[in-house]
Amino acid sequence: MSEKRSSFTGKIGFVLAAAGSAVGLGNIWRFPYLAAKYGGGIFLLVYLILAVTFGFALMCAEIAIGRKTGQSAINAFTTLNKKYSFIGVIASVIPAIILPYYSVIGGWVSKYLAVFVSGGAHEAAADGYFEGFIAKPIEPIGWFLLFIGLTALIVLLGVEKGVEKVSKFMMPVLVVLTIVIAVYSMFMPGAMEGVKYYLTPDFSKFSATTVLSAMGQLFYSMSLAMGIMITYGSYMKKDVNLESSVRQIEIFDTGVAFLAGLMIIPAVFVFSGGDESALGKGPGLMFITLPKVFDSMTGGTVIGAVFFLLVLFAALTSSISLMETVVSIVMDKFGWSRKGSWLAVFIFSVALGLPSSLGFGVLSDISVNGMTILDMFDFASNSILMPIVALFTCIFVGYVIKPKCLIEEIELTGKFKSKTLFTIVIKYVAPICIILILISSVLDALGIMKI
Ligand code: PFF
Repeated sequence: MSEKRSSFTGKIGFVLAAAGSAVGLGNIWRFPYLAAKYGGGIFLLVYLILAVTFGFALMCAEIAIGRKTGQSAINAFTTLNKKYSFIGVIASVIPAIILPYYSVIGGWVSKYLAVFVSGGAHEAAADGYFEGFIAKPIEPIGWFLLFIGLTALIVLLGVEKGVEKVSKFMMPVLVVLTIVIAVYSMFMPGAMEGVKYYLTPDFSKFSATTVLSAMGQLFYSMSLAMGIMITYGSYMKKDVNLESSVRQIEIFDTGVAFLAGLMIIPAVFVFSGGDESALGKGPGLMFITLPKVFDSMTGGTVIGAVFFLLVLFAALTSSISLMETVVSIVMDKFGWSRKGSWLAVFIFSVALGLPSSLGFGVLSDISVNGMTILDMFDFASNSILMPIVALFTCIFVGYVIKPKCLIEEIELTGKFKSKTLFTIVIKYVAPICIILILISSVLDALGIMKI
């Protein structure tokens, strides 16, 4: 990239921008449905352990790579060692896979906002409402196009800064509202069962799939293993403390995910009447459960409308950051103009998003091992490509450029307190775990071997 890189103003600016990318549908929509599906407390425990080890080490590494080289993913790896530029290339494919289906979910959020604003909250709480909506051929596509169109328009007009400003105000409100809804959920009659399920680990529910799903979720939620944090790091000033910035982003991101789980999982127990299969609802869980919570609340229509508006903002800041990344990769890689690259990314994303949306209705026959088309894209990026990128990044840092190279970068502002943890995780723990988990879970997903 030839133009001068602008920097974030200070630590707060950096942490807020990175948190804006990190906190999104991954926290509010994806985390709760995975936690519900993969055993509640055991998933939460595995996730937290991974967050303070893998997540911490990988985020430090990626931001340090970006800041050291001043480059985004593809060029950063090339700058450090030409032979390893392929890591940046695989990493760059991931946001392109995520953006289309992320926008399908963003479309669902837009629909629910519209339903609540137009006073349809009660209907949205009815059994089968969500399933009926996503199975329609045209309507969900309309919402998807609206969401991706809005994202694309913001990126084209270059008004991200404006959206970020608004979202800096919206995000704290979202956190407060999530706390309010979570407290309400927890105290509904019958909710304690769900609180227990979410907070107490049941070790008999532990499997390689739990770890792979938690790991994929960690990468997804913290925007790791896809080059994004490298790009953010390239904009970070040298005098900002990298280690404590990473801690803050992690605490914020994990905090929001934790609260979202608390808001949704106990409510699943309340409304399912003890039917355990309700926990395995997958991507629809938030859309099925929350309207019922709002319907049971006084003022629930207004609270629901505000909630979906805030979630829409969180989703937009993330989808904008995804699209920006893909557009700049296309510009760098093919040397196309910004407008041309933008148009190509837009058309590609619409083309890939359409089957994801149709996969719940017209194309529902296309499924592998129970996965819809959207689930397949999600699985390919989160459970296959991201662990592979994370694995190569660890090997690259641990054995090619050596941890010391990044530790020096991290120590520009003082002692790196978790240096030993960083080194051990990057060199040994992460690579071994990722290899084992990747193999066993892929076999499991393909139905070849049951673990
Ligand atoms: N981290 C985002 C979330 O949790 O919703 C997803 C995401 C956004 C991934 C932006 C990557 C990205 F560039």
